[in-house]
Amino acid sequence: MKPRAVLVAAALPALFMAAAPQAQAQEYDAPRARQDWVLNCMGCHTADGSGIPGKVPALRNSLGHFVSLPQGRQFVMRVPGAANSALNDAELANVLNWLLATMNEQSRPASFKPYTAEEIAAHRRPALTDVARTRMKLVKELQENGVDAVPEHY
Ligand code: HEC
Repeated sequence: MKPRAVLVAAALPALFMAAAPQAQAQEYDAPRARQDWVLNCMGCHTADGSGIPGKVPALRNSLGHFVSLPQGRQFVMRVPGAANSALNDAELANVLNWLLATMNEQSRPASFKPYTAEEIAAHRRPALTDVARTRMKLVKELQENGVDAVPEHY
């Protein structure tokens, strides 16, 4: 083998490994998610998901922690802004998976399984009427698990 051929052969496995995370990223359609986000969520949650202090919670980082709890996984789709949005089940799943992959990649558990349209259809309704109380319970549960990264008040 010429040295160059050896180099290419050595680089091949690295190429495949680099491709693997991209295969995982197919769990959402980014252009569609971005568009649905802009039209349905961003107006309140702000462009980068930081929220508005005292009014609208941030969707950065905290969602990854919420989905680590079974009830938290449902909480995320059952808040009125998500549950009652104009998005259909597949679109809502897509936006949530995109949010979790792009704004919550540090906090979401390695075992996270993407939302599916079926899961959203089964649990999004009824929308929560006691968001604050449900959220506080989840934040306490996270704190008991040693996670204090989700603010009690936003
Ligand atoms: C009209 C403004 C508004 C829109 C539009 C909106 N939200 Fe919200 N969202 C809120 C407010 C306010 C809260 C705090 C809980 C509550 O009062 O409902 C919230 C809470 C949340 C939470 C819980 C976060 C936490 O830390 O408690 C999630 C998740 C969420 N929204 C997702 C979305 C998604 C996804 C969309 C778009 C499909 C969306 N929201 C659209 C205002 C909005």
